[in-house]
Amino acid sequence: MRPVLTGVGVGPGDPDLVTVKAVRVLREADVVVVPVADTGEEGRAERIVRAHTFRDVLRLEFALTDGPRRDAAWDAAGAAVAAAYGRGARTVAFATIGDPNVYSTFTYLAETVRGLVPELEVRTVPGVTAMQALAASSGTVLVEGRESLALMPLTAGLDALRGALDAHDTVVAYKGGRMLPEVLAAVRESGRLAGAVYGASLGLPEEDVRPAAGLDPAWTGPYLSALLVTRERTGRGGRL
Ligand SMILES: C[S@@+](CC[C@H](N)C(=O)[O-])C[C@H]1O[C@@H](n2cnc3c(N)ncnc32)[C@H](O)[C@@H]1O
Repeated sequence: MRPVLTGVGVGPGDPDLVTVKAVRVLREADVVVVPVADTGEEGRAERIVRAHTFRDVLRLEFALTDGPRRDAAWDAAGAAVAAAYGRGARTVAFATIGDPNVYSTFTYLAETVRGLVPELEVRTVPGVTAMQALAASSGTVLVEGRESLALMPLTAGLDALRGALDAHDTVVAYKGGRMLPEVLAAVRESGRLAGAVYGASLGLPEEDVRPAAGLDPAWTGPYLSALLVTRERTGRGGRL
């Protein structure tokens, strides 16, 4: 059997938002790996894994900031997973928040391990994204009929967000907690603030979901913040 590395999406934070397949893969893998921030805090993925399995996990540090430290962390994490195969493991599962194919560290880990273990087979188990959790918690329909949906990383800048607000019916913004005042100003300028909801720490006990129009315009949110902007809908099937 070829060595297998599976990225397992464990949802946004609530252990109930994990698929049956994710739990099975996490229980059956020879080694389970979880990312921890270089702050040393217990990671969210780790907490969700522990809610479903009693097994030991291999904790790999990832740096949150850009630069050589981040590259060194990816290299070290890749080497640690490659070493697990060297010790006889055949299946390694990497638990990641949300979905492993949506802005996940799993992508970089898989690429690094592939460079070290050429026969590696990479698989993923989909997970519930923060975007879906925000839609559910706020009672917002993400898209219907012919509506389009854009997922924007605010690290790409506010002009990209403005372009998406012009071009798309539904816009979701990730990675922008610290830029929230500028983000809210851009949404207000586009005339779409009334259709915007904000969510922080989705699926966690401290979850905070509210209409964006009610936020203090100077307030900055945590890293785990997302914004969902939809268009006004006119009755059933209005956009079919
Ligand atoms: C590196 S991306 C990870 C996305 C994740 N793989 C997914 O599928 O949702 C991190 C960004 O996702 C969003 N995010 C992830 N989990 C969240 C949560 N529980 N509450 C609010 N936002 C979250 C935030 O915008 C955060 O800055």
